[in-house]
Amino acid sequence: MSVWAILLAAGRGERLGLDHPKAFAKLGEEPLLAEPLRRLEDSDWIDAIVVVAPPEWEEPVILLAEELGCGKVNACVAGGATRTDSVRAGLAEVPADALVVLVHDAARPFVSDEVIERVLAPLSEGWDGVVPGLPVSDTLKRVEPDGAVVETVSRDSLYAVQTPQAFLVDVLRRAAAGDGDATDCAGLVEAAGGRVKVVPGDERLLKVTTADDLAKIASWL
Ligand code: CTP
Ligand code: MG
Repeated sequence: MSVWAILLAAGRGERLGLDHPKAFAKLGEEPLLAEPLRRLEDSDWIDAIVVVAPPEWEEPVILLAEELGCGKVNACVAGGATRTDSVRAGLAEVPADALVVLVHDAARPFVSDEVIERVLAPLSEGWDGVVPGLPVSDTLKRVEPDGAVVETVSRDSLYAVQTPQAFLVDVLRRAAAGDGDATDCAGLVEAAGGRVKVVPGDERLLKVTTADDLAKIASWL
């Protein structure tokens, strides 16, 4: 089975608020992108990698991949305006004979072999997609724009979903065709009627959204 990874790094990182894309925020001595790229490169589960770069940052991304000796990087393409557009750009570089695609946010640097194995395994049991998720632990409330609470929502059976997310390539391609949008790839597959399974996620897959997240993740290095 050939497994391709799409590493999504094309976001602007507006909430982080730097004057360059989030993928090039400093994590320790390196750009943020280096950590997840090296981890995918080193994973025995992954055969090839497509990096989706911020528009006009393809060259620095290619240089970084070369510096890190990432021989599995097959393509580097510019992303689109939305995450879903960036997924489409990445999928266009995945060859027709690839069976499985793993889509991962570069903003979650600490991807591990353990979680990659957990999301890949159920694909051979009839699932179209598999995502890591953590049970929600806070109390959840539906709230009006003025702050008025409408109701408390039961958190039973609610999960906060992360990446890497694994899919049969053909299923994700069909789900991403057209101009639908979703905040994750599983959302596209669900909307197309696909069967998606949640497996245990990992606290360390925290996404860098704000400067506080970056500081927290840097402390884990
Ligand atoms: N992403 C992408 N292309 C986009 C938007 C997002 O490849 N047009 C990627 C980001 O690079 C990131 C992941 O999707 O790895 C999750 O997105 P998010 O955390 O929202 O990152 P940004 O969109 O960069 O941040 P912000 O929303 O604060 O601008
Ligand atoms: Mg975003």
